[in-house]
Amino acid sequence: MSDDAGRDAGPTEGRAWSTLSHLECPRCGDHLDASVHQGLCPRDGSPLLARYDLARVAVTREEVERRAPDLWRYHELLPVQGPEGVVTLGEGMTPLLAAPRLAADLGVGRLLVKDEGLLPTGSFKARGAAVGVSRARELGVRGLAMPTNGNAGAAWAAYAARAGLPLLVAMPVGAPAITRAECVAAGAQLHLVDGLISDAGKLVAAAVAEDPDRWTDVATLKEPYRIEGKKTMGFEIAEQLGWRMPDVVVYPTGGGVGLIGIWKALHELLELGWVSGRMPRLVAVQATGCAPIVRAFEAGAEVSEPWVDASTVAFGITVPKALGDFLVLRAVRETGGTALAVDDDELLAELQHVGSLEGLVLCPEGAAVVSAVRRLRGSGWIGADEEVVVLNTGAGIIYPEALPVRVGDGPGEVPVVAKDGRLEVRRG
Ligand SMILES: Cc1ncc(COP(=O)(O)O)c(C=O)c1O
Ligand SMILES: [Zn+2]
Repeated sequence: MSDDAGRDAGPTEGRAWSTLSHLECPRCGDHLDASVHQGLCPRDGSPLLARYDLARVAVTREEVERRAPDLWRYHELLPVQGPEGVVTLGEGMTPLLAAPRLAADLGVGRLLVKDEGLLPTGSFKARGAAVGVSRARELGVRGLAMPTNGNAGAAWAAYAARAGLPLLVAMPVGAPAITRAECVAAGAQLHLVDGLISDAGKLVAAAVAEDPDRWTDVATLKEPYRIEGKKTMGFEIAEQLGWRMPDVVVYPTGGGVGLIGIWKALHELLELGWVSGRMPRLVAVQATGCAPIVRAFEAGAEVSEPWVDASTVAFGITVPKALGDFLVLRAVRETGGTALAVDDDELLAELQHVGSLEGLVLCPEGAAVVSAVRRLRGSGWIGADEEVVVLNTGAGIIYPEALPVRVGDGPGEVPVVAKDGRLEVRRG
């Protein structure tokens, strides 16, 4: 059955729309009730993960392929209980673009760019917001509160407005300016913080504690459903490859939700038998100005230490201490992956380079990932015949400050020509 948008209309012949069964703590293994709102594990403060009764998934891959091209096509593996619970702005699927010129330049066999910049509000955060907001509304949550590095706030503001829920956002004053405007335009209550996302998180937690009936803290991994939205990146990558997994997936890691989500998604598909073979090696990329996961990975530690004086132009990955750090490290190690950091100068040069080679204007976080592939190919960690998927998590056009065009007559500047003047055309 389909509605006007081609969306699967609801439970048919006893088939479950969602097969969500319970929540599980990845630290102590406890199971919790998924039919009421839950935050962190009451025993140890760990994030909780949604679990599904995969034996009840009655749909086939071929049926999924015929559904509308948005992330709700995977609804059996998402927590929302029925189509009436869906809050949508038309999120997903995003293109998995072959980048042959860039692949040749990097020396890798096949390079595919999952371009998340085409999602509503311009970043992959729309996936987490669509599912997180839908599920929060379904569970009767009255108001949402969150710290953000910008993009998540912009996305949650849009989806919260769409759901008719109030949203309180606290973001660092240094976050990309456009994301402030997106929050305000969508009617969110915006607070700018003279600090980092960790400082904003403390302020939000305090505001929620003062009025817990009104506000629910939906910070990264403090509720279990944002990650469910983000895991659809993993489903899409597998489906777009013809239900196959690549050799390597490279991801710009802040809170790590996307990386943990892709890992979780591929485990679910393996368990369902929809894909087979070896998991891709998952690579967590950070910036040298804020690389707590990389440092923990290199030290063989299970958790990260807070990064002091974090700073990078790749603002989305400025996360000094991630709640889910132990899961990111687990995912990277379990898959034989790695973690590495790249410099701001390097990633900004890469942004320009990829734009000229492929017409893809990446976000700084996405450019960091391409720089990481360049390094990993250089060291031989990525082989010459491997298939590599890189995540461009947002649209380059929401970061005008990353690639400023200076107007003037000096070197590297763009002159203004008099209207009766002459264009100094360069050859080539
Ligand atoms: C563009 C962009 N890329 C990557 C990230 C990091 O996301 P994650 O929490 O999934 O590691 C963010 C987070 O703000 C972001 O905005
Ligand atoms: Zn626990």
